[in-house]
This record gives sequence, structure tokens and C-alpha cells, in this order.
Amino acid sequence: MNRYFPLSLPVLLLVFLQLISGLAASQEQSVRPGINRHYQDPEWDQWVNAFERPGREVFDQRHAIVAAAGVRQGMDLADIGAGTGLFTRLFASQVGPEDTVYAVDISETFVRNILRTSTEQGLSNVKGIVNTARDAALPENSIDLAFLSDTYHHFEYPQDMLASIRHALRDGGRLVIVDFRRHPGVSSRWVMGHVRADMNEVIEEVKAAGFKFLEEKPLLDINYFLEFEKRTAEQSP
Ligand SMILES: C[S@@+](CC[C@H](N)C(=O)[O-])C[C@H]1O[C@@H](n2cnc3c(N)ncnc32)[C@H](O)[C@@H]1O
Repeated sequence: MNRYFPLSLPVLLLVFLQLISGLAASQEQSVRPGINRHYQDPEWDQWVNAFERPGREVFDQRHAIVAAAGVRQGMDLADIGAGTGLFTRLFASQVGPEDTVYAVDISETFVRNILRTSTEQGLSNVKGIVNTARDAALPENSIDLAFLSDTYHHFEYPQDMLASIRHALRDGGRLVIVDFRRHPGVSSRWVMGHVRADMNEVIEEVKAAGFKFLEEKPLLDINYFLEFEKRTAEQSP
């Protein structure tokens, strides 16, 4: 054997394979495989009817939700898992024309149609981002608020997504999560089967990702409204 190459090929291969499997093991695994299958090739009109229909709590309470999120002129924000843009367009008319509302979704169909409907309504401050299931794909330090409506339970890789959201938030930036309450014996069978975590579990997951829990705002019934702030490196948990 060459004295400058003391490891045999099989040993090198073994080390390489262990390295690869170690990397794979350290990657976050999907907590809910298949939950976004309906959004892979969505029919736009069908989802407008589903998301923007009277009787859906977040639709009925949309103006109260926007007010509680504290959206105002001078803010840049991201509607992550924007769907059909119900909140994107409300936010865009609330902030200034020079501010930016990012409509972020893993579905290209949703993002394309949100841009179309925003333009039709004269909203020129909406930018679309088609992201991946692990990464919000927002620029670093670009937003003051990240907003999720009925989207957290659709995150297959919540810790990866939260890390990328934290990366996009400016210091002092906030994260608002609106999602379904999950109470055994109280919530519907659909919610119990569809939604992975209850509110307290979500709070713990978000805190573990570098956020400070501020409060639950008591404006919803079937859903909850949670507000967090980005914890900076200097702030202890
Ligand atoms: C139940 S819909 C909610 C839509 C909208 N926020 C609303 O409340 O009307 C969930 C949305 O999250 C999107 N989604 C799922 N995982 C995502 C991820 N990792 N990043 C961005 N969007 C995601 C889906 O494509 C879908 O549009």
C-alpha cells in the first residue's frame, strides 16, 4: 500500500457512509408527511371558496385579526403560507405603498394568483416568494412581522421553517401564529385528525426556536392568536 495513503478503500467508504448517514440523521424529519398534498397542484377557485368563505372563523374575524397583528405603515411583513392571499391583500392595503408584503407559499399557483389579484386591486407593494417546505426563502433582516394563518400545522419541518423565519425577522420583529385549537373531546374529529399539536406544544416549539412568547390575544374561539418576539443572541431564554 502507498505509505501516503494508509487507509484502504473499504475503510474510506465506511467513513464516508457514516458521515452521510450522520448528516441525514441530524436533518429534521417530516413531522407530518403528505399534509400538503392538496396544494401540489391546487385549483385556484376551489381554494378561494374554501379559504374566503363566511363561516370560516379566520375569514369572519379577518379585520379583527389584522388589527390585532398591529400592522401599520412603515412595516415590512410576510404572510407565510399565504394560500389565496386573504391576509396578504388586507395587509397590503394597511401598510404604505413603499412597504413590502411578501406572499410566501410552497404553491406556485397560489403565489402567481395572489400577485394577479393584488395587481387587479391596485396593490403594488406585494412581492411573491415560492419557497420550499424547509425555508421561507425571505431575505435576511427583511421583515418586522411574520404572520401565519392556519399554516403552522402545515409545516412539515417546523424547526427549519422557524429558523428561517427568525433569520428574516429584524431585531424586535414579531411572529404571529393563528391556528386551530386542539382539545380532545371539544375540537372536531377533523381538527383532531388534521392538526398535530395543541397550543401549548406550539408555544414550546416556537420558544425552543429562539422566540419569546408575548401573549395569546383572546379574539378567537375555534382558533387561537399567539404573538411572539424574536429573541436576540444577548437575551437569555
Ligand atoms: C390551510 S392553508 C392557509 C392559507 C391562508 N394562510 C389562510 O389562512 O387563508 C395553508 C397554506 O400553507 C402553505 N404551506 C404549507 N407548508 C408551507 C411552508 N413550509 N411554507 C410556506 N407555505 C406553506 C400551503 O401551500 C397552504 O397554502
